[in-house]
Amino acid sequence: MPVIAVVNRKGGSGKSTFAAHMAAWSARQGHAVMLGDVDRQQSSRGWLRRRPAELPAIAPWAMDHKQMLRVPPSITHVVLDTPGGLHGFELARIVMFADAIVMPVCPSVFDRESAAACHAELATLPRIASGRCKVAVVGMRVDGRTRHGEVLRQWSDGLGVPFLGVLRETQLYVRALERGLTVFDLPSGKATIDLAQWEPILAWLQPLMQAPQPAANDPAPAAGQRVGGSRPASLMPAQESLIHGARLAVLAGGRSRVEEPAAQPARPRATTPREARQIPQFLKR
Ligand SMILES: Nc1ncnc2c1ncn2[C@@H]1O[C@H](COP(=O)(O)OP(=O)(O)O)[C@@H](O)[C@H]1O
Ligand SMILES: [Mg+2]
Repeated sequence: MPVIAVVNRKGGSGKSTFAAHMAAWSARQGHAVMLGDVDRQQSSRGWLRRRPAELPAIAPWAMDHKQMLRVPPSITHVVLDTPGGLHGFELARIVMFADAIVMPVCPSVFDRESAAACHAELATLPRIASGRCKVAVVGMRVDGRTRHGEVLRQWSDGLGVPFLGVLRETQLYVRALERGLTVFDLPSGKATIDLAQWEPILAWLQPLMQAPQPAANDPAPAAGQRVGGSRPASLMPAQESLIHGARLAVLAGGRSRVEEPAAQPARPRATTPREARQIPQFLKR
């Protein structure tokens, strides 16, 4: 199951905007996608509540450190929105389940410095270092009248991270998100420039989103076999099972709770508590 996480330590860098767009695009591709909101601010979840029911369905999924939420069996793709300031064990847990990390980065030197620090930490994680979880940068809120796009590209090249392109600063994003939409949902001709800017970004992500990757890149293990052998032992769930979605369920620690999709079209079905699996003790807080 492809899992794309949107990560950057800096708040306001466009993570929720990017995650909502990725989820909407994936839904338009016909995937049964879930938008996971690891952020306490729950921006993505709020956006999803505003999303018109007639648009391609995106399943809601929010979690924090007190809740444990599940990926329903019907879900085939996951996009994870994450909070600013993510680091250490929390960052490692996200990487453990992601096939790709997209870092939206605004052009200022403060944003670049913060993103460089975030990338430096990512680079220390085995799944990133081995290439099993890919990392790429997208320039966010770039004013086309400036050299900011080029500055970001050179900065990204300097880090050795693929630079997928830029999204311009425009109220189209702000207004679309307010209505539960993305630029992909706007009437034809309303967002021509923006859709063109998304093309190289989606070209990089599309193979990852299409690949039938069982459980975030790892080969399917035989029954009873421990999966993810190259991961640090401290991050391994103690009793990883092969239940669909179970591996993502350990992203959040704490008491089991299942979120019911609110008034969603039928496709992504919510799990029942019976389907839910107990979180390994050592991951609890
Ligand atoms: N390309 C863009 N043009 C204009 N405003 C944008 C753009 N991308 C994001 N924004 C606005 O910037 C603010 C922060 O974006 P958000 O996605 O919430 O960032 P984060 O999740 O990283 O905190 C929001 O108000 C959002 O509407
Ligand atoms: Mg956010």
